[in-house]
This record gives sequence, C-alpha cells and structure tokens, in this order.
Amino acid sequence: MADPTPAKLPVVVLISGRGSNLHAIIDCVNTGKLPIEIRAVISNRPAAAGLRHASATGIPTEILDHTTYTDRAHFDRALQAAIDRHAPGLVVLAGFMRILTADFVNHYRGRMLNIHPSLLPEFPGLDTHRRVLESGATEHGASVHFVTPDTDGGPVILQAHVPVKSGDTEEILAARLLQEEHRLYPLAILWFATGRISVDDTGQAMLDGARLTTPVDMADINDLPC
Ligand code: GRF
Repeated sequence: MADPTPAKLPVVVLISGRGSNLHAIIDCVNTGKLPIEIRAVISNRPAAAGLRHASATGIPTEILDHTTYTDRAHFDRALQAAIDRHAPGLVVLAGFMRILTADFVNHYRGRMLNIHPSLLPEFPGLDTHRRVLESGATEHGASVHFVTPDTDGGPVILQAHVPVKSGDTEEILAARLLQEEHRLYPLAILWFATGRISVDDTGQAMLDGARLTTPVDMADINDLPC
C-alpha cells in the first residue's frame, strides 16, 4: 500500500548562537504546515543557545568547533562531511556566523538558504541595524537568499520590510525585524520544500518556473505558513 504521508524534505540547519530563527522554524514544523524533517542542527560554537532548544525538541545536534581546525578549508570540509551524513535536500543557515569557502558553497549550489538582516543588496555584512540607523534610512528589512560564494550576494527570493522609527535603538530595531524574520524564513523554506523556488543554470532565482527579477515582498503574501 502506498504511504499516505507525503515525503518531507530532509533539512540540516546551521547556527552559531541564539537560534531564534531555528526556534521559529521548529515551531512551524510542529504546526504541520512546513513539510520538512530537520535531521540535524549543527553549530560551530559549543555555547550556542539554539542547540539546547533543538535537543529539547528531540532534534539531533552536533558541534563542530571551528577554533579546533587549522584553517577555514579544513573546517569547511569537516562541516560538509557532517552535513552530508544526513543527506539533506536543503541546508538552512540560521545565524551561522562564518564566511564559507567557495568549494563548500558550490557543493550546496541551489540548495542552501540564508537569512540576512537587511534589504539586500543594501547593507551586506555585519552590524546591519547600527548601519541602517546611522544611514538615516526610514526603512529596514530582512532578505532570504540562495547562498553563493559572494557573501550575502546570492539571489534574493523574499524580503520583509519594517519601518525605522524615531527613537529607535539598535536593540528596538533588531527586535522589530526579528519578529518578521520569524515569519519570513518558514515561508521561504516552504517555497523550497514545495518546489516553488530554485536556481537556474545561470545562477538566477526562479519562482514557479519564471525568473525572479525582484524579490517578493512578504507583505504581498496572504497565506503565510506561520
Ligand atoms: C538574525 O538576525 C539573522 O537574520 C542573522 O543572524 C541573526 C540570527 O538570529 N543572519 P538567531 O540566532 O536566529 O536568533
């Protein structure tokens, strides 16, 4: 008899710290609206708080402490081996604070997503909330993109926008944006898991079989999974 349960996409999530995006993804999976199986959560930092939450929900966790590797290439090779033991269809970077080698990134071409706290291509890199405040911008946001060897430069699929308000501090602005990130990332993962988004041979993002020239604004989506 055929299995009545549709196949779930195997996923490995990489974190370095707090893990609130991971938490949001796990919560969404638990509602039954995100057809993925998180096979493992891997952290490069032993103290990453997100590891505890993953363990508490029964997800296998692993630590690969980057400080114990001689160089980036060795670490990335070990990380790749650890990930591939779980045979994921998708690798999710959720606050994974490492620059990745081109070999590593190319191995997961078209099947690795990242969430970045800015409206890319604006403000790639670190300290985005502070830099947005200093710039005087009136709008901030987050982007989910396919990962390419160009750090924070891969094709963007989805964005969420938030206003910058007078009196905002870095912390207030970050918290406002994080709430949106927690709805944005499950949506992007759902789109990947259901085959709606991909990367074509030329490295362009595709949505529903058509080239995506402009990122989709989450505000235009009515049926968020979570
Ligand atoms: C988020 O702001 C995400 O956009 C960025 O790193 C932060 C991770 O936060 N890539 P958390 O660990 O998911 O709470």
